[in-house]
Amino acid sequence: MRNADAPARQSSAAQRPEALRARIQRPLVLVGMMGVGKSTAGRRLASALSLPFADADAEIVAAARMSIAEMFEDFGEDYFRDGERRVIARLLEGGPGVIATGGGAFVEPATRALILERGIAIWLDSDLETLVERVGRRDTRPLLHGRNPHEVLTKLAEERRPAYAMAPIRVVSDEGPMTRTVTRILEALDAWL
Ligand code: S3P
Repeated sequence: MRNADAPARQSSAAQRPEALRARIQRPLVLVGMMGVGKSTAGRRLASALSLPFADADAEIVAAARMSIAEMFEDFGEDYFRDGERRVIARLLEGGPGVIATGGGAFVEPATRALILERGIAIWLDSDLETLVERVGRRDTRPLLHGRNPHEVLTKLAEERRPAYAMAPIRVVSDEGPMTRTVTRILEALDAWL
């Protein structure tokens, strides 16, 4: 009977998100490579669970009153990482909600420690081809400026995988519709919580 039970349990998380919502006590924090769809999936996940959504990169831009590219160019990556950590610490104080983070946030030990302590980290993982295709849609990422996205992403993915793997939940976000990724996140949370 175990196999027969499994699909019913899985679909109930997506069909009755309010029951799942009641069990969520900490912010859900989406981590993973640039281009994996953390902001899009995060917004939809928040809406499915009737939780507030925050995009850490957008909050950093608002707090610094300059773009991420300008921050990298004028003050360097360390300055950006410092602001990123402080903004994420503030967002984590906000109670249950969904937070999408920039691709490097969870790789920074201090930021990762905060997320692991105060939130529920969900690693959105994807194959390289999907990432390359998705980053091609926007030209705002300083780490890719003037470089070959496939090369940069291959190297970053290799370096960052061990850090992302410290998230307690991993969900694959492939080239299919984002609603499928959101359903997988709901199912993974239901199983984990
Ligand atoms: C970065 C990813 C970006 C942004 C910044 C640095 C990274 O966010 O935070 O450009 O180090 O991977 P996205 O993951 O939303 O692209």
